[in-house]
Amino acid sequence: MNILAIESSCDETSSAVISNGKILSNVVATQLIHTQYGGVVPELASRAHQQHILPVVDKALNDAKVTKKDLDAIAFTKGPGLLGALLVGTSFAKSMAMGLDIPLIEINHMQAHVLAHFIEDPKPKFPFLCLTVSGGHTQIVKVSGPLEMEIIGETKDDAVGEAFDKTAKLLNLPYPGGPLIDKYAAQGNPMAYAFPLPEMPGLDFSFSGIKTSFMYFLQKQARENANFVSENLNDICASIQFTLINILLKKLKRAARETGIKEIAIAGGVSANLGLRTSLAELGESLGCNVYVPRFEYCTDNAAMIAMAAHYKYLEGDFCAQTVSPEARMAF
Ligand code: KG4
Ligand code: ZN
Repeated sequence: MNILAIESSCDETSSAVISNGKILSNVVATQLIHTQYGGVVPELASRAHQQHILPVVDKALNDAKVTKKDLDAIAFTKGPGLLGALLVGTSFAKSMAMGLDIPLIEINHMQAHVLAHFIEDPKPKFPFLCLTVSGGHTQIVKVSGPLEMEIIGETKDDAVGEAFDKTAKLLNLPYPGGPLIDKYAAQGNPMAYAFPLPEMPGLDFSFSGIKTSFMYFLQKQARENANFVSENLNDICASIQFTLINILLKKLKRAARETGIKEIAIAGGVSANLGLRTSLAELGESLGCNVYVPRFEYCTDNAAMIAMAAHYKYLEGDFCAQTVSPEARMAF
C-alpha cells in the first residue's frame, strides 16, 4: 500500500511516500524568501508553494522509486496553517487523486507532528503525553491511540516558537530566530539574567507576558549600554531559552503527575531545540519516565509525518470527499 503525502501549511513545501507504514522518501523545499521580511509573508508563501510543489512531488516519487500508477491514496495537510498555502497543497492533492481515481486523505498538521514519533524506533507506548511546540501552537496532547488524541493544555496567547522568533527579532537576529537563539544559548550562561515565570492555571500556557518582559529588559539595558546585546548575546540567549524551556517543562511535569502517564514525547519545530532536548532528558530521569524526541528532520515541518498519519487513516478507511476545503484553524 503506497501513499503520497503533501505538506504546504506554512513555509515548507514537502512531499513523502509511505509504503506499508515505512517512509520511502521525504523531500522538503524550504522557502528562504521570507528571511528578508523577518517573518513568513503569506502571499509569498503561496506563490513559492505553487513553484515548488511539482518538482517536490516528482522527487518524492523518484526517491521512493514509486510511479504514480503504484499509488493507492493521496494525503494532504488540511490545516491548521496559512489558508493560501494550504490551498496549493489541497488543490494539488485533489487533482492528483481525481486524475488517478484513488482515495484522498485529509490530515491535521498538529496530529501529524505527534505521529512523527511512529516513523522510527523507539516509539512511545500508548497512552503517552506529547508536548507539541511549533511556530503557531503550544499544546500538551494525551495520545491514547494513533488517531485518538486529546489536548489537555495549550497556550492562551502566543506559541512558544513565536516567542523564540519575536525575541530573536529584538536581538536583531534574522528569521526564523529560534534555531539561532538555540545556537548562541549553547555558549552562554542560562543563569546570567532571571525572568519571572508566568502564572497560568492548570496545564495551559501563556507566552505574551514573558515576551514583553524580555522586551522591557532589553530596552532598559540598551539605555545603559548601547552595545549590551552584542556584548552579551550568548548569555542573553541562554537566559531567555532557559526561561522558555522552564515554562514548558513545568507544565509537562504537572501533566505527567496529574495523569500518571510515564511516557513523554515532544514534537513540532521547537522540539529541534537542543536545550529543550537536554532538559527533557533530565526531566525524564528525575520523574522515572521514558522520553521520546523525533529525529531532527521530523521535528520541523515535513511530509513524512503527514504520510505517517495517512497510513493510520488508510487502515481505518478514513477517506474524504473531493469537495473538501482547507481550514486555517482546523481543530483536532
Ligand atoms: O513546526 P514548525 O516547523 O512550523 C510550524 O508548524 O509552525 O515550527 C517552526 C518553529 C519556528 O518558530 C522556529 O523558530 C522554531 O520552530 N524552531 C526552533 C528551533 N528550530 C525550529 N526554536 C528553537 N530552537 C530551535 N532549534
Ligand atoms: Zn508544524
